[in-house]
Amino acid sequence: MSPPLYLDYNATTPVAPAVVEAIEPYLREHFGNPSSSHVLGRRTHEAVEQARARVASLIGARVGEVVFTGCATEANNLAILGVSRALQARGRHLITSAVEHPSVSQPTAHLRAEGWEVTVLGVDAYGRVSPEALAAALREDTVLVSVMHGNNEVGTVQPIAELAALARRRGVPFHTDAAQTLGKIPVDVQALGVDLLTLAGHKFYAPKGIGALFVREGTPIAPVLFGAGHEHGLRPGTENVPHIVGLGAAASLAQERLPTIAERLCERRDALHRQLAEAIPGLVLNGHPQERLPNTLNLSFPGVSGRELLAGTGSVAASVGSACHEETDVVSGVLGAMGVEAERALGAVRLSIGEPTRDQEIHRAADDLVAAWQALSSHA
Ligand SMILES: Cc1ncc(COP(=O)(O)O)c(C=O)c1O
Repeated sequence: MSPPLYLDYNATTPVAPAVVEAIEPYLREHFGNPSSSHVLGRRTHEAVEQARARVASLIGARVGEVVFTGCATEANNLAILGVSRALQARGRHLITSAVEHPSVSQPTAHLRAEGWEVTVLGVDAYGRVSPEALAAALREDTVLVSVMHGNNEVGTVQPIAELAALARRRGVPFHTDAAQTLGKIPVDVQALGVDLLTLAGHKFYAPKGIGALFVREGTPIAPVLFGAGHEHGLRPGTENVPHIVGLGAAASLAQERLPTIAERLCERRDALHRQLAEAIPGLVLNGHPQERLPNTLNLSFPGVSGRELLAGTGSVAASVGSACHEETDVVSGVLGAMGVEAERALGAVRLSIGEPTRDQEIHRAADDLVAAWQALSSHA
């Protein structure tokens, strides 16, 4: 049997060989607690601080503005709950968008259940939030805006610099979840003008279970976990040194690749799109045609379900635009927010490529998807 064709890099990436190499000594030899004042502790403390500097360099932050967390979910929770709690005396209103990952929409729902008001900004047919809508939603008692940078399902990239400028002009902190953009497009906290930014190691070739939150100096934020004073008092718990080192190595790798990665990903992604569109009449792109992650291709295949299509290939490991609950397909919230009708949403497949994806894989995946679509269509 031939190996699976992995086209699910938005779900997770493999750990890069250079990252494995960087981590290994911290699993095998350097086990000291970074808080210990003896030589073993100093060694791991230095490694953690070097990794912090590498992450800061990738996003244009100061070293002290990077807080390591257990994952992007935790970073999003810390940003939303932490800033809200720090500013609750000022007001109890938040703004977010209709296309956020659950790690943003759920903490805001939790606050709503506690009596906070939450405005959820709608999106256009491409999944974009409009700056005008944000301007209209900002209020005297708004204490935080959280809008994601790049969408995990359709890849649409939000006009974050414009949105953040609107919020900050009103003195409202702005958070963006950049879990999907790091390592694919430039992410610079100064150019974006954000106060808080989330990143996830396993979306750019570091291991799972490590993330970070950028917190601009001076941003009011309270901890959500309580313990010893690690990570500027914002994330207690002995540091996961190997994974932090891995995140640092992945950040350096991402920075090296940045000048060429977007173009290389785009070429392969568009080749896949072309090959499929030539063979499948009625194939529809979901997401913005240009303002989109360079690796992401969310397509609706006409007349078939995305789930059946992927199963029919037997080879392509990718995601569908719907979640299966008790045998029935439920349309993805992101496609729903974009106004995509049910039939088109059920035919949606998210193909996301990565740095290791090669041309042969693109051609094989296209051939297998076309063959599976033809087989399913001929039975319809
Ligand atoms: C946009 C976005 N935010 C946050 C997350 C959460 O990442 P993790 O599961 O590593 O906490 C993901 C993961 O799919 C994501 O795509």
